[in-house]
Amino acid sequence: MLKMTNVTKKFGELTAVNNLSFEVEQGQVFGIAGPNGAGKSTLYNLITGLYPFEGSVTFNNGEIRGLPPHQIAKLGISRTFQIPQTFPSLSVEKSIGVGSHFGSRDGFEHDYVEKILRFVNLIDKRDSSTGQLNLLDKKMLMIGAALATKPRVLMLDEPMAGSNAKEIMKLMNLVQRINREMGITIIIIEHFMKVLTELTEKLLIIETGTEVCCGNPVDVTSDPRVIECYLGGNND
Ligand SMILES: Nc1ncnc2c1ncn2[C@@H]1O[C@H](COP(=O)(O)OP(=O)(O)OP(=O)(O)O)[C@@H](O)[C@H]1O
Ligand SMILES: [Mg+2]
Repeated sequence: MLKMTNVTKKFGELTAVNNLSFEVEQGQVFGIAGPNGAGKSTLYNLITGLYPFEGSVTFNNGEIRGLPPHQIAKLGISRTFQIPQTFPSLSVEKSIGVGSHFGSRDGFEHDYVEKILRFVNLIDKRDSSTGQLNLLDKKMLMIGAALATKPRVLMLDEPMAGSNAKEIMKLMNLVQRINREMGITIIIIEHFMKVLTELTEKLLIIETGTEVCCGNPVDVTSDPRVIECYLGGNND
C-alpha cells in the first residue's frame, strides 16, 4: 500500500534517512522504533511532502514524491505530531470539524464529527476550548482531527510519550479500534517496546537513518542488534 524505495534525506552534511526501503501492507499496524535522532519523524515529514528527498514513495502504486502536502492528505495519508498541536482558541468540536472540512469532498459533516467525538471519548468536552484539555485529551483530539480527514493510513508519532500506564492502555485500545473498526492502516512510531510487541504486526528498527532490522515484532525486539542499539536508550 505504502512503499518506500531507497529513500535518502540529507540535511546539509547530516544524513537523516539513509537508503531506507520498506512496505506497509493495507490493514496492517506497522511499527517504527529506534534511538533519538534515528530519523523516524523525518520519515513522516518525507511521506507527507514536507521536504524534498531522494528515492521513491508510492501509495497504492502511484508515486507521491514531489506532491504538495494537501494532495498527499487528500489521497488518504494523515499524521499526528510528536508534540500535540491544537488550535487553543477553538472548541474541541470545531477543531475536529476543521479536519473534516479539509478531508471530505462535500464539506462539513456533522454526523461524522459526532462519531469521531465519541470514538476519541471527547463527546462530553465538545464545547471546551482545546487549551483547557489535559495531555491525554489533547492527544485524543489530535488523533480525532487526523481521523476527520478520513484517512486510509494514519501515521502516529510517539502517541504514548509522557503518558502513564493507564493512559497508555487507553491509547493502545484506541489505536486497535481505529485499525479494526475503521479499517485504517496504522504506522506508529513508539519507544515503548511492550506497546510495539502488543500492537504491531511488523516492526522496523532504524538507527542513524539506516535499517537495523525489520520483521515480526517478537523476533525484532529480541534481536541482539536491536538490543545493542537500544543500550542506554529510553526503551521501557
Ligand atoms: N529540518 C531539519 N533540519 C536539519 N536537521 C534536521 C531537521 N529535521 C531533523 N533533523 C535532524 O535529523 C535527524 C533525525 O531527526 P528526527 O527528528 O527524524 O529523529 P527521531 O528519530 O524522530 O528522534 P526522536 O526519537 O528524538 O523523536 C536528527 O539528527 C535531527 O537533528
Ligand atoms: Mg521524532
